[in-house]
Amino acid sequence: MKSALIIYWSNTGNTEKVALAIREGLESEGLKVDLKKPQETTDTDFYLYDLVCVGSPSIEWQPAKPIHDLLKAKLNLYRSQGKIVPCAPKVLGKNALLFCTYSGPHTGMDEATPAGKTMRQYFEHFGFKIVGEWYVLSEFHEREDLSTLGRMGDIRGKPTAEDLAKIKKDAKHIAVSLTEE
Ligand SMILES: Cc1cc2nc3c(=O)[nH]c(=O)nc-3n(C[C@H](O)[C@H](O)[C@H](O)COP(=O)(O)O)c2cc1C
Repeated sequence: MKSALIIYWSNTGNTEKVALAIREGLESEGLKVDLKKPQETTDTDFYLYDLVCVGSPSIEWQPAKPIHDLLKAKLNLYRSQGKIVPCAPKVLGKNALLFCTYSGPHTGMDEATPAGKTMRQYFEHFGFKIVGEWYVLSEFHEREDLSTLGRMGDIRGKPTAEDLAKIKKDAKHIAVSLTEE
């Protein structure tokens, strides 16, 4: 049975909704899924999973600190174990999905991509194949101005049930491709 680890951090619930939709999609194809917060993964070895999913809101266009700190710690650990090597060769059967929720009120998606690319870069260094880098437009809770007057228009209620159904479906496709490997 293929296994997946989903790590996410969420302050106002958007990233959590996406993480749960991904879990549903993966489980629907029979993957065994562990869903964890960053602080629960200090001793978790990413290389024990077929797929590692990491999700964060964009906070000042970077991953949230608990996620960034975790990834830095893993990089240091894996470097000390000799796993971080020149040219970052792929490690067979190791896959990663990065997902980032964002509101983009000032400059749109450009204020989310640095966060997604930063998370991605860690997994490139680990030798994981990147199977997805997802950006999910989401309501800016407790700031109606930033949810209605920003670059992305009226984003209240996002991610919607429809958005989450699409995420579930996309996760299911990833699971199918893993089980066919
Ligand atoms: C302090 C703070 C900084 C933020 N910075 C950004 C940003 O740089 N770019 C962006 O698109 N959204 C930004 N946002 C909006 C959040 O990324 C977005 O609402 C996200 O979906 C929240 O996720 P959560 O509900 O899982 O905490 C920021 C929100 C807060 C509270």
